[in-house]
Amino acid sequence: MKLDKELKEIVVPILEDIKIFQQEFEEALRSEVRLINLISKYLIRHKGKGIRPILTILSARACGKPTLNSYKAAALVELIHIASLIHDDVVDDANKRRGFPSINRIWKNKASIVMGDFILSKVLTNLIQLRDFDVLDLISSTAVSLSSGEMLQIEKSYTKSISEDVYFTMIRNKTASLTATCCELGVITSSREDNHRHAMKSFGENFGMAFQIKDDLFDILGSEQTIGKNTNSDLSKNMITLPIIHTLSSDISRSEKKQIRKILKNGSSKKDMKILTNIIEEYDGFSYAELIMNDYSQKAIDSLSIFPDSPYKQSLIDLTLYNAQRTY
Ligand code: IPE
Ligand code: IPE
Ligand code: MG
Ligand code: MG
Repeated sequence: MKLDKELKEIVVPILEDIKIFQQEFEEALRSEVRLINLISKYLIRHKGKGIRPILTILSARACGKPTLNSYKAAALVELIHIASLIHDDVVDDANKRRGFPSINRIWKNKASIVMGDFILSKVLTNLIQLRDFDVLDLISSTAVSLSSGEMLQIEKSYTKSISEDVYFTMIRNKTASLTATCCELGVITSSREDNHRHAMKSFGENFGMAFQIKDDLFDILGSEQTIGKNTNSDLSKNMITLPIIHTLSSDISRSEKKQIRKILKNGSSKKDMKILTNIIEEYDGFSYAELIMNDYSQKAIDSLSIFPDSPYKQSLIDLTLYNAQRTY
């Protein structure tokens, strides 16, 4: 998938850094097994937006100078992200990712699970090479948060109900913990100043919350063509997200509530989705989710106030604004 123009402009100040990251990333994936190399090649060819390594590099640059460990850390966060996507596509039974058939679609669940495990194991061996206990601590606890968040989501999909509080805990764990870590790693591998670390963590966490809320909005409102992955996937797997949580907790009529429950129970045809989006719209579920997303975006931007103005800080701000407006 190609980066859209806006994202391309945002990364202009770190183009050289991204090249070094890319080398570290490809190096970290190397294996002796042919099937692993085949899938790795496919992953390298069908890149995502690369938001997580971008966060690490921009954070390092906004508060100092990146070191070799900054690029290695950027490679590790992208690897963790990719492993979780490969596993997530098995969990969600997805068939499309980044505009192309997903790994599970081509190589089936068995190879996908083991490939995800391989990548996570590569994270471990590469992590040790950084020889930095803080990095080790941070990455390992983030990996725990990530899978806890995914599991919490699965748990809630069984009961088909979730409160707003639990939803926020879930997305904090499954998405915002990694983006927070991306930014914190940028600091740990450059300036190492405690107040920088605190501020960047806060930026990354708030950014991640906004990022997942946006992704959840796409799942209902986006088209497969533009987002490059399956739509209505959350709903069809009983994963209830913010616009619906808000609608269900509004002063909604009994028959509408029943209708939503029925759609959740029986899966979502095109017609059902139309009914559902109409009800959500009636109760301002989409604009509510957007309001909360913008709130997190603002908090993210506010966290950057301690850093001196620089093209890198500006790119972090632009990235936050880009997320709020992005179309994939
Ligand atoms: C998708 O992340 C999963 C979420 C946490 C929402 P991205 O939208 O960053 O996926 P890629 O890497 O660009 O494909
Ligand atoms: C994010 O959730 C998944 C991970 C953090 C692994 P989603 O299930 O919404 O991600 P997409 O939409 O499949 O990319
Ligand atoms: Mg998914
Ligand atoms: Mg999603």
